[in-house]
Amino acid sequence: MEIKKIAVLGAGQMGNGIAHVCAQAGYEVIMRDIEQKFIDKGMATIKKNLERGLKKGRITQEEVDATLGRITGELDLKAVVKDVDLVIEAIPEIVKLKLDTWKEVDEHAPEHTILASNTSSISITQMAAVTKRPEKFIGMHFFNPVPVMGLVEIIKGQATEDETVEIIKTVSEKVGKKTVLVNEAPGFAVNRLLVPAINEAVFAIQEGVATVEDMDLAIKMGLNWPMGPLTLADFVGLDTLLYISDYFVEEFKDSKYRAPALLRKMVRAGWVGRKAGKGFYDYSGDKPKPMRF
Ligand code: 3HC
Repeated sequence: MEIKKIAVLGAGQMGNGIAHVCAQAGYEVIMRDIEQKFIDKGMATIKKNLERGLKKGRITQEEVDATLGRITGELDLKAVVKDVDLVIEAIPEIVKLKLDTWKEVDEHAPEHTILASNTSSISITQMAAVTKRPEKFIGMHFFNPVPVMGLVEIIKGQATEDETVEIIKTVSEKVGKKTVLVNEAPGFAVNRLLVPAINEAVFAIQEGVATVEDMDLAIKMGLNWPMGPLTLADFVGLDTLLYISDYFVEEFKDSKYRAPALLRKMVRAGWVGRKAGKGFYDYSGDKPKPMRF
């Protein structure tokens, strides 16, 4: 089966990035969100990121126009999924919201349509089970910022067919990403490693091992990471990290995945990182200022 038309559910950070790369690869894309203002914001981000590429001479004005011309915004979920070949979901990580959305999508999408979730941790098998097509349900995990990061983790649920895996691999490669195939497990491959690593950096800050900026510098220069772990924590969102840590403890029944108390306190304070203007750094000034704990 050839994928031609894709619905992306969610116009947020991940959703607009996914819509961007799919449209740039030549797919027709409908980006859906629950309010017009979210769609407008997502479209503005796509435009800004395409123009960034234009300024650097990586793409032409014709490519920018053609990419934007392939993306439409839409609010009505039924209308969005009624004639697409693939649905990629990037809505908030709330289990009930995901399950309710998938039930509705399954009811209105054509029989051949493949359903893919960009979840960073929720069980693919659990979501697939609320649909009548678990063999066509799969995980398709992109990384932030989507236009830059080169990987898609493909996650096979209990009932996912090999044919579905092959189709998703083809789409991922067409949008310029390398793929790894992962059997379903909490956090898949990348977050299984990333989240405990970031948590360990936060434990170290909590214990006074180093300052925020020194811990970041140590890992950036000592391990050649593009961002230090605390900058990356702010980039991903502390709320997301806490959610994943709690989910790991629940699923693995192993306290080694527990979140540091400092992370929980910061989330309770609303200091969830860049999107809130404050996390391990304060973003209110000209350049990020490290916080003291
Ligand atoms: N959208 C599109 N392009 C972007 C971008 C964005 N939001 N941010 C940066 N870029 C592009 C720039 O245009 C530039 O392109 P060029 O090389 O062609 O000139 C390139 O990326 C590098 O950008 P900058 O020079 O501005 O900045 P940096 O060199 O500091 O790179 C970064 C920025 C790419 C974000 C880099 O710091 C990085 O790779 N950080 C780590 C990101 C990471 O680990 N992401 C994964 C998070 S985990 C996740 O998503 C999983 C989830 O489930 C938790």
